[in-house]
Amino acid sequence: MLDLKRQYRPLHTELLEALGHVLETQQFILGEPVAAFERAAEERLGVAHAVGCSSGTDSLWLAQAAAGIGSGMSVVTTPFSFFASVSSILRAGATAVLADIDPTTFNLSPVAVEAVLDGPRGKDVRAILPVHLYGQTADFTSFVRIGKERGLKLIEDAAQAWGAEWQGVKAGALGDAAAFSFYPTKNLSAAGDAGLVTTNSDEIAERARMLRQHGMRRRYYHDEIGWNTRLDGFQGAILNVKLKYIAGWNDARRQVAERYHTLFAAAGLVEAGPYPTRGVVLPHEVSGSRHVWHQFVIRTPRRDALREFLSARKIGSEIYYPVPLHLQEALKSLGYGLGAFPEAERAAHEVLALPIFPELREDEQQTVVAAIAEFLS
Ligand SMILES: Cc1ncc(COP(=O)(O)O)c(C=O)c1O
Repeated sequence: MLDLKRQYRPLHTELLEALGHVLETQQFILGEPVAAFERAAEERLGVAHAVGCSSGTDSLWLAQAAAGIGSGMSVVTTPFSFFASVSSILRAGATAVLADIDPTTFNLSPVAVEAVLDGPRGKDVRAILPVHLYGQTADFTSFVRIGKERGLKLIEDAAQAWGAEWQGVKAGALGDAAAFSFYPTKNLSAAGDAGLVTTNSDEIAERARMLRQHGMRRRYYHDEIGWNTRLDGFQGAILNVKLKYIAGWNDARRQVAERYHTLFAAAGLVEAGPYPTRGVVLPHEVSGSRHVWHQFVIRTPRRDALREFLSARKIGSEIYYPVPLHLQEALKSLGYGLGAFPEAERAAHEVLALPIFPELREDEQQTVVAAIAEFLS
């Protein structure tokens, strides 16, 4: 599914040098290696502020807390994402309100969000939290319009989308604040847990810096109850090295995705979407968006049988995500039942992520597509 060693081997010496520098300077928490990464990240994303923290999950909480989201408020997000998209809202003290996804992109549907905002759960909503799922940005033309019309903050879950763009603007610079994850499987990855909040707002950035260090502006003077979610020096140093290569890696991912499209078409397996009947519905890059293909996710009706067939042939695949968030045991208290979000529920039964990473070879992709063709025949 993913061979991280292919990325690591050519960077071995450069990464060890960067880690050695952290040991020499003993700047283990924040400090110069993290500040250097933050400044470089700001430049790459075209955003005024980048604030490093301990994980993508923490960055989601920190972005919301710094943007003033808290108790008595609600935030609308998608039921078809990683758990942290919703749990971070609860952790910020707010109520999570869900709206269904668009079946073509799997991203939060602006139409569904507007319907929710007009309904009984829309009353206390103060922010929308779209997720750029699988590496493709959500429809920010619509979300910016909705946000302006209704006075709502926009918080991006950009955990899967380093380098993705909407109408030429990078993920991370589209909303009031954004959250990135550098979990090792992400397209820009640390060697452990790490995250980042980005924003163009001086005020949100200042609050995020204060909240990531127990609410301190001055050492041992606590203005608010924050938390410890600092980025460590080793992770900052590793990320700073990898920043030099990420644009090339994302280009390579785009080539891998294009090759999948060509191979599936040549095998005659492609069905028009959004719903599959016999074959494979391929992922779709929306016009005006630049997908970074964190995942290459197909839809197919006999998904579980296909997955078993592939794993018997030692071909990796993954389901992101098998259970929509409103049906998770831990989120029962949100008060949604089966049938609440039909698009998310259907997607959870049909999606299958195939191997994709910059170094994936064409012959390996041919093997994947040939195995799927064999299964479908
Ligand atoms: C969409 C999404 N949001 C949030 C997270 C949380 O990031 P982390 O695992 O770094 O806490 C992830 C990654 O796992 C994710 O994919």
